[in-house]
Amino acid sequence: MTERTLVLIKPDAVARGYVGEILGRIERKGLTISALELRTAPGDIAAAHYAEHEGRPFYPGLLEFITGGPLVAAVLEGPRAIAAFRQLAGGTDPVEKAVPGTIRGDFGLEAQENLVHGSDSVESAEREIALWFPQLATN
Ligand code: TYD
Ligand code: MG
Repeated sequence: MTERTLVLIKPDAVARGYVGEILGRIERKGLTISALELRTAPGDIAAAHYAEHEGRPFYPGLLEFITGGPLVAAVLEGPRAIAAFRQLAGGTDPVEKAVPGTIRGDFGLEAQENLVHGSDSVESAEREIALWFPQLATN
């Protein structure tokens, strides 16, 4: 069964010139890119995107980071797209959790600057797609 997932190539990855590398990995995995946009996240979208983390110590820094420069927002489609992209991304902490061969494991050093976001469930994916690409919302 095909799924959709919302991916962000975060400002650190854009600034470091990894957009092509990351999109290449997505394409080689076999996922379909069905929407793609370079933009600087407005504060309200960033806050809504990370609302589940409000109140945690890293939240203010996370919002500053994610709004601090252009990012690439994308919708990917494919069978098990949500898990497939999170497999490509690797664990949240690029050193403690992500392993070499993953995007975070290959290119990251710190938890905040971990290059990519991928939705973690069907519910999150639909919520995040509606937030970043309202024209693609299903309801
Ligand atoms: P989270 O949703 O837990 O991770 P993931 O991106 O793997 O789904 O956290 C969201 C982002 O918040 C994470 O990508 C990086 C940042 N973050 C920190 O900076 N410090 C932390 O301790 C955690 C848990 C997350
Ligand atoms: Mg998450």
